[in-house]
Amino acid sequence: MIQAATESKSTIQSLVCTKCNKAYDHKIVQQFAPCCNVPLSATYDLTGQSIHSINQAVYSMWRYQFALPVLQKENIVSLQEGFTPISNLQKLADKLGIDSLSIKDESVNPTGSFKARGLSMGVSKAKELGIRNIVIPTAGNAGGAMSAYCAKAGIEATVIMPKHTAETLKEECSLYGANLILIDGLIDACGKKAREIAASTGAFDMSTMKEPYRLEGKKTLGYEIAEQFNWELPDVIIYPTGGGTGPIGIWKAFHELIRMKAIKGNLPRMVLVQSEVCSPMVSRFQTGILPDTFAPQPSAAYGLAVPYPFATDMMLAVLYQSNGTAITVSEQEMETGVQQIAKTEGMLLSLEGAATYLAAEKLLANGWIKPEEKILLLNTGSWYKYR
Ligand SMILES: Cc1ncc(COP(=O)(O)O)c(C=O)c1O
Ligand SMILES: [Zn+2]
Repeated sequence: MIQAATESKSTIQSLVCTKCNKAYDHKIVQQFAPCCNVPLSATYDLTGQSIHSINQAVYSMWRYQFALPVLQKENIVSLQEGFTPISNLQKLADKLGIDSLSIKDESVNPTGSFKARGLSMGVSKAKELGIRNIVIPTAGNAGGAMSAYCAKAGIEATVIMPKHTAETLKEECSLYGANLILIDGLIDACGKKAREIAASTGAFDMSTMKEPYRLEGKKTLGYEIAEQFNWELPDVIIYPTGGGTGPIGIWKAFHELIRMKAIKGNLPRMVLVQSEVCSPMVSRFQTGILPDTFAPQPSAAYGLAVPYPFATDMMLAVLYQSNGTAITVSEQEMETGVQQIAKTEGMLLSLEGAATYLAAEKLLANGWIKPEEKILLLNTGSWYKYR
């Protein structure tokens, strides 16, 4: 019998500014840290917690409830997100001449992407805090996920999406009963519209990293990876990155697990992958700045087209702290990659997921990854939604 929630209690302590550490009350509605105009981050009292605090009877991300922010289990809005499989890609590993290549498949989440983790958490906390109306700017997948969780929670949802997004991603929002607004432009234009709507209607703004709790959902990726690798982490984790909640969340999880003395050995080097047509993080990592010529374009991998991510500094911190790197792939490479992986491994990845394989190939070719290292790819979404 699959359970929706656990009896274990949240150990959340506070929210803190990710720049100056100023504390903010988690019992009232918060967006980001006004002191430094950066994201807030949840802190926990993990004294006495260990891997034995995990509720083994719960087969979803809620097995880690002791390290999650929801206080009352009746506020959990769950469609059974998380607990996704990791598979070996042995044929591709053989082709690349390496020992170990595996992939965590987030496409099996409710609504078909890793966004389910963040939105299950964000909407659960919204419910707990009495929020009745939420607005979200999205490249596509986050909007569908928020629509589904808001439907389940009985909260009004408004989704703002670029007009050029695939029909399936639009239609699902309407089917879940959300108000859908289409915008000419990329997610930054949608974000501007979301701020206007929030200001004029009082709706809560669920923009990436502009509220503290979606990150806590994404963090469960890190807990799961550690658990699935029996607490001995891979050498390299490759993540397709837009706003950055995936890699930032995974990195946060690993540090909480270190405090619980759960992890054996070293932490992985984190790799961010972006599309050549919109790669602000690769520019910032390589040169420290966005070039004057920066002209972001839509990517067929919708999730990667985030020109001005709010959590830029947090992503850079993950790269510096982990001795990681950031790399681009082309639109054409992603298309070809999807086909190559499908024909070799029988897995149809999202373009974003295929990007991680191509990044591995490039980083092996230039010697940044050694053939004996363990590599973990993330397939963040489903190919089937981009029609
Ligand atoms: C399938 C997929 N992969 C990756 C991303 C990037 O996620 P983030 O913005 O959290 O970096 C998105 C975002 O929309 C996505 O939909
Ligand atoms: Zn501050």
